[in-house]
Amino acid sequence: MKLVVVGSSGFVGKEVVRQALASPAITSVVGLSRRETPVPESLKGSSDADKLTSVVVDDFLNYSDTVKQHLADADACIWLMAVTPNKSASMPWEEVRKVCLDYTIYGLEELSKAPRNDRSKPLRFVYVSGANAERDPTKKPWLLGEYIIMRGEVEARVLDFAKTSNNAIEACIVKPGFIRDAEHGNFLLNAFQNVLSSVIRIPVVYLHDVAATLLAQALEGIEKETLECADIDRIGSSKKQAIEK
Ligand SMILES: NC(=O)c1ccc[n+]([C@@H]2O[C@H](COP(=O)([O-])OP(=O)(O)OC[C@H]3O[C@@H](n4cnc5c(N)ncnc54)[C@H](OP(=O)(O)O)[C@@H]3O)[C@@H](O)[C@H]2O)c1
Repeated sequence: MKLVVVGSSGFVGKEVVRQALASPAITSVVGLSRRETPVPESLKGSSDADKLTSVVVDDFLNYSDTVKQHLADADACIWLMAVTPNKSASMPWEEVRKVCLDYTIYGLEELSKAPRNDRSKPLRFVYVSGANAERDPTKKPWLLGEYIIMRGEVEARVLDFAKTSNNAIEACIVKPGFIRDAEHGNFLLNAFQNVLSSVIRIPVVYLHDVAATLLAQALEGIEKETLECADIDRIGSSKKQAIEK
């Protein structure tokens, strides 16, 4: 299967690419980002780095013909491109909204139009949001309210797009809490995350489990419309057990 990963240069994107290159069921990984997608470090022995094609996109609201060609025949897309809350504070709000919302919807439109050999099955679109993103605009929280409602709006727009896509797109929203890298963790950052997690009641999930959950939806099929942190823990640990068997 051919997988497109948008936002492949980022923290989660690199782990998704690392796991995808190790999966025999994935024959091609197209990493779309504003800069080159590196071949991940610490690839497993069975990984095939040649499956990765790095595609640098200059304009996320107007794909070049080359970018469109790379979308052809994709079976699934994992969408990780967004401005995260910590980075959003240093950017104009309109820019944050454009990257998170407009780029995603434009990407979905292009993916739904991309030529595919087998149009009998929809393209699986796995959108990564956040545990606290809120789809109900009347429930705007006092902290990061505008951001949280905007990410909820993206979730709703992605699901609506899929429902009206005439079977071109099947969508799933994955909502991680704080994502922790168990292998390269920083003690102070982890301690800070633990405090924040208990104060604002957002769980910590592990990077490996998040990437494994995203890939399971893309490869094996979408389990349900929205996956929460408990689902990420469950699917992530079942994948670990499968690997250890
Ligand atoms: N990290 C967490 O703890 C966490 C928790 C919950 C949810 N999430 C969600 O998971 C997703 C991925 O997060 P992440 O931690 O991997 O974030 P990240 O490291 O900042 O990566 C985000 C991706 O988006 C790209 N991007 C950011 N601003 C852009 C812009 N203006 N134009 C084009 N591309 C842009 C980044 O490109 P560059 O690499 O060039 O910057 C990168 O490819 C996001 O939706 C995030 O909200 C993350």
